[in-house]
Amino acid sequence: MRRLCAPLLGLLVLAGCEGDVGPAGPAGPAGEDFPGPAPQEYTNADGIIGGASYSKWWTTDAAGSGTQPATTASADYYRCKACHAWDGLGNSASYANRTGQSTLNPNRPDVSSVNLRSAATAKSFQALFDLVRHVGARDIDASDNTHADFSSRLTDGQVWNLVKFMREEWVAPNLLYDISVSGPTMYVDYNQTPAVVVAPTVTYSNVGVLGNESNGQSIVANSCAGCHGVDGTGIDIGGRTLGELIRQKPNEAWFKAKFGEPGTGMGPGLVIATSDLQDMYAALANSTNFP
Ligand code: HEC
Ligand code: HEC
Repeated sequence: MRRLCAPLLGLLVLAGCEGDVGPAGPAGPAGEDFPGPAPQEYTNADGIIGGASYSKWWTTDAAGSGTQPATTASADYYRCKACHAWDGLGNSASYANRTGQSTLNPNRPDVSSVNLRSAATAKSFQALFDLVRHVGARDIDASDNTHADFSSRLTDGQVWNLVKFMREEWVAPNLLYDISVSGPTMYVDYNQTPAVVVAPTVTYSNVGVLGNESNGQSIVANSCAGCHGVDGTGIDIGGRTLGELIRQKPNEAWFKAKFGEPGTGMGPGLVIATSDLQDMYAALANSTNFP
């Protein structure tokens, strides 16, 4: 549309009036959807091995050297899961009541408030890679709650495995169980002598309700019973049977079934598909079959 020239004429403007606006130009090339094309290193990476690294990156199961770093600080200060939780939700879910150094447990870092699962979908491939390596951050040998510099500890391949794990292999808690966190955010009540840690209550329910129990029984028989026994009581897992672990720590058990327990002979990749994990939970939730 031609712009109005008449008002300008009265102002003795010497320039001429503008002409018609031209036709719209051709459409530009299609843009890339976020996060853009995956780098070759990401494509080549193994997210299941990455899950093993999230637990114990130095083990050979996790493509590490096999030698645990000798530090004066406890290993929890350099294990991803200790600060970010098995579910990746930090201190907002299963680890809401896990104590750390500011809640009177010097052997553990405080659980981070970062939601690693959101970060994994919101950041580009390269940004995640850089955030895991965190060049210039503290050394792992420190009782410190912040994310360490892992650049000289993990190979680039291990970091890409971790990135792939974070983006592709986490199972949403509500597919396996329900969790409720009730009560105050954790703090230390110094008005009491000795001081007392006040923590919320974390409760699990509906473990395995979305799965198929008889399919799950086959999975347990084929993939677990050889070591854990047909009823899951064959190995003492920190004072628990396999069934008890699924029912009491459903936040952790699937992680071990999928990514292994590095360094124990229970390797990564036993049960990978989410539907298989759901079926396995349905079977192991039954305390008659799996006391
Ligand atoms: C001692 C605790 C601790 C450990 C161990 C740890 N992190 Fe972190 N991480 C944090 C904290 C706290 C942050 C938030 C930024 C900061 O304080 O450095 C963070 C940030 C991150 C971020 C960036 C999140 C964002 O939204 O920007 C990623 C990704 C990450 N960590 C992944 C990992 C992985 C993978 C490992 C294991 C190799 C690991 N972390 C080990 C505490 C830890
Ligand atoms: C090759 C033998 C083997 C097989 C097969 C196996 N496990 Fe294990 N599992 C172990 C050993 C050994 C441990 C370590 C016990 C310990 O903590 O000392 C373990 C530990 C675990 C833990 C707890 C890890 C921890 O300490 O926190 C879980 C959960 C678990 N197994 C689940 C399973 C499930 C589910 C299956 C079947 C899908 C399975 N395992 C198959 C040998 C095996």
